[in-house]
Amino acid sequence: MNRPDQKRRVNMIDSTQIDSLRAALGKRSIVMVGMMGCGKTAIGRRLAQRLELPFVDADDEIEKAAGKSIPEIFEDHGEEHFREGERKVILRLLQNGPQVLATGGGAFMNAETREEIRHRGISIWLKAELPVLLRRVGRRDSRPLLRGDNPEEIMKRLLKERSPFYAKADLVADSRDEPHDQIVAQIITLLLNSRILEDKPRV
Ligand code: S3P
Repeated sequence: MNRPDQKRRVNMIDSTQIDSLRAALGKRSIVMVGMMGCGKTAIGRRLAQRLELPFVDADDEIEKAAGKSIPEIFEDHGEEHFREGERKVILRLLQNGPQVLATGGGAFMNAETREEIRHRGISIWLKAELPVLLRRVGRRDSRPLLRGDNPEEIMKRLLKERSPFYAKADLVADSRDEPHDQIVAQIITLLLNSRILEDKPRV
C-alpha cells in the first residue's frame, strides 16, 4: 500500500465511528497480545489515545505490585513466581474496562488468563515477523528471557511455541515497520468491520 492510501485510511475513520466503537465495547477491554517487541505498549497506548480510553500496561502494574522491576522479580523469585503475579494482576486489571490493556508476551500462554480475556475483552494479536521483532527487542536489555547466549534462537523458539496460542486471539493485526498511527487505523478498521464487538457477549 502506498503512502497516500495509508494516510487516507487513517483519516477515513471519523469520530462517529469511534463513538460507535466505544459504545459497542461497553465495559470490555481491548487487550493487546503478542511477542516481545511486537509493539503492544506503544501501539496500545496510541490506540487508547485515539479511542479516548485509559491505557494500562500489565508489566508496569506487575512492577508496581511487586515494588521491583521485572528483571529483579525473575532474579529474586524465578519465572514461575513472575507468572503467578502476572496472572493475578491481569485478572484484576480486566475488572476495570473499558480500557486498552497491553499484556506481557507470555501472559496469553496461561489458560485462565486467556479465558478471562475472552470473557472480559477483545484480544488483538499484534503479529510481527521475526526480523522485525529482533530489531525491536535488540534496543533494550530489560527482558530477562533474552539474557541468554543467543537471543535470536530464544525469540525464534518462543515465536514458534507461542504463535498457536496467539492465534486464539479474537483479531489479528499486522505489526510492520510502518507508523504506529497506521497500525492503529488498521486495528480500528478491523474492530469496525469484524462484528466481533456485536457478536461476543458483553460483560
Ligand atoms: C515476557 C515479556 C515481557 C515481560 C517479561 C516476560 C515474555 O513483556 O512480561 O519479560 O514472556 O515474553 P513484553 O512482551 O512487553 O516485552
